[in-house]
Amino acid sequence: MKLRVKVFRFDPSTGKKGYDTFEVPYEEGMTFLSALQRIKETQDPSLTFRHFCRAGICGTCTVYINGFPKLACKEQVLPYVLTGQEVTVEPLDKFPVIKDLAVDHEEVTDRLKRFRSWVKGTKEEVKIDPSLNRKIQESADCILCSACQSYCPQVLEEEYAGPLFFAKIYRFLEDPRDDSKEERIKQAIEEGHIFHCLSCDKCNSACPKDVKPATLIREIMTFFENG
Ligand code: FES
Repeated sequence: MKLRVKVFRFDPSTGKKGYDTFEVPYEEGMTFLSALQRIKETQDPSLTFRHFCRAGICGTCTVYINGFPKLACKEQVLPYVLTGQEVTVEPLDKFPVIKDLAVDHEEVTDRLKRFRSWVKGTKEEVKIDPSLNRKIQESADCILCSACQSYCPQVLEEEYAGPLFFAKIYRFLEDPRDDSKEERIKQAIEEGHIFHCLSCDKCNSACPKDVKPATLIREIMTFFENG
């Protein structure tokens, strides 16, 4: 059995864009990341893509597989191999491509800094109820893979910060150790334009960690409405 894969290519030195098709012999347990590595080792050493943990934790390997964002290190190739059809692998949509499948995350990183995605507080010891902890965990499970951000149609509107940021903010709004809630809500509205969310739930479907950013966005809106 073989995986037939059409991979997006971009060479920044020439500006050339296009697709290359490769055939990769199937091996038991093969993921798209291992298929890309096999191509790099045996067919084209110039093929460029990001990865780190290989375990669905670091969020660096996200690519589009047949038009849908997936973690390459988690997505098994077998179901695609069994269809016998060619599979398309492309970089994250709406992100500047650096080379082939590697995209530039700088804008996301900069915005995360502006949104201060860390607990901001002075309380030394706070007991967190287990049920509240579970709620916080829903948002803290985000691995910043940008799948939601890339799949959200509304991020094309530049003012709208996007689901990734609101999923992060939610965690701090629920965290009793954080003492800048009012400031965060103000920032979500004025800087992030949270009310521009279309509530289309596309980010919920794209998130590989089941964080459900759209659901969290609706909860943040209730923080605002309840004062
Ligand atoms: Fe870390 Fe895929 S390599 S999430």
